[in-house]
Amino acid sequence: MNAIIDSIGVYLPEKKIDNHYFEQFLETTDEWIVSRTGINTRYYSSETEYTSDLCVKAAQNLADNYQKNLADVDFVIVATSTPEQSFPSMASQVQSRLGIPNAGCMDISAGCAGFAYGLIVAKGLIATGDYQKVLVIGGETLSKISDFTDRTSCVLFGDGAGAVLVESSETQYLHKSISTTNGDLGKDLYLSNQPAPINFEQIDYNGKIHQNGRTVFKWAVSNLPANIIKLAEKNGITTDQIDWMIPHSANIRILEAACSQMNFPIEKCLESVVNYGNTSAASIPIAWYNGIQNGKVQLDDKLMLAGFGSGLTLAGIYLTN
Ligand code: ACO
Repeated sequence: MNAIIDSIGVYLPEKKIDNHYFEQFLETTDEWIVSRTGINTRYYSSETEYTSDLCVKAAQNLADNYQKNLADVDFVIVATSTPEQSFPSMASQVQSRLGIPNAGCMDISAGCAGFAYGLIVAKGLIATGDYQKVLVIGGETLSKISDFTDRTSCVLFGDGAGAVLVESSETQYLHKSISTTNGDLGKDLYLSNQPAPINFEQIDYNGKIHQNGRTVFKWAVSNLPANIIKLAEKNGITTDQIDWMIPHSANIRILEAACSQMNFPIEKCLESVVNYGNTSAASIPIAWYNGIQNGKVQLDDKLMLAGFGSGLTLAGIYLTN
């Protein structure tokens, strides 16, 4: 069975945080954050607002925008690094609160690559013929796990959620995908609540994000363009045939470096990092949604999605009608 995506929704919490906020308690400046990351603002969930709340609202936004009935969704996938509980899954919380009866439910833990992994899994589920409607959501409340004493990481992150409905169809919209991981670099981007080491290395288990920014940056800049080129080849196209590239929005400099290496115009790259920060698994659907809202992305455009993050892992998929 083939699969199509023709609906998308997002949700962003109300509390807008600009860079001056961090100047109050950290040795940092708006100028440093903008020049090193491109980020101007991000949104934070309230104390009583959690990842499942954001995911439910993104799915409701999708249903409202596209008059989609979610009652017959037969599988729910939530990609997140910030579930409010380790179990039950966020997907099962979403299923319950949206009143979807009898759907399969599971979460994906693949950091900022989670949404792309979600699409790959949804495509596979539909290809079996066993499922017809798979709701894929990327949702995060990274502000709740940010270390506000660490100026090298807390300034980067924001909260948000984005959802798409992957439905069985006559034509194939979800084409070939790619995924790759270097687990040796797990220790360079992690969150832990217990003393178990990662790759035999002692780690700080305070339940906050730990990131070796330079390592992640270098890994992303060399792996993102190489894998996008590989994915294009796998799909029998060259990168100049792509209408819009939607990479994970971690840092505008990563996107600029990746585009420059591929000789791909940065104007054809959709981002969400400038206004929303790094929203991890939500960054790709937020950029995609905004691209549609501001009239850039058309239904028949050729899209190349690629997420990368904690693992370190990367996943991408090519979409077109
Ligand atoms: N304000 C002021 N100075 C700062 C700040 C800050 N907020 N943060 C770091 N600095 C300082 C550093 O301490 C360092 O000072 P030093 O030279 O005296 O030691 C200097 O700025 C340069 O630090 P770098 O780490 O070299 O800065 P860089 O230009 O690499 O930017 C950043 C840091 C923004 C973290 C970058 O490395 C980055 O974006 N990395 C990738 C992050 C990423 O993509 N993460 C994915 C997460 S996704 C997930 O799965 C959750």
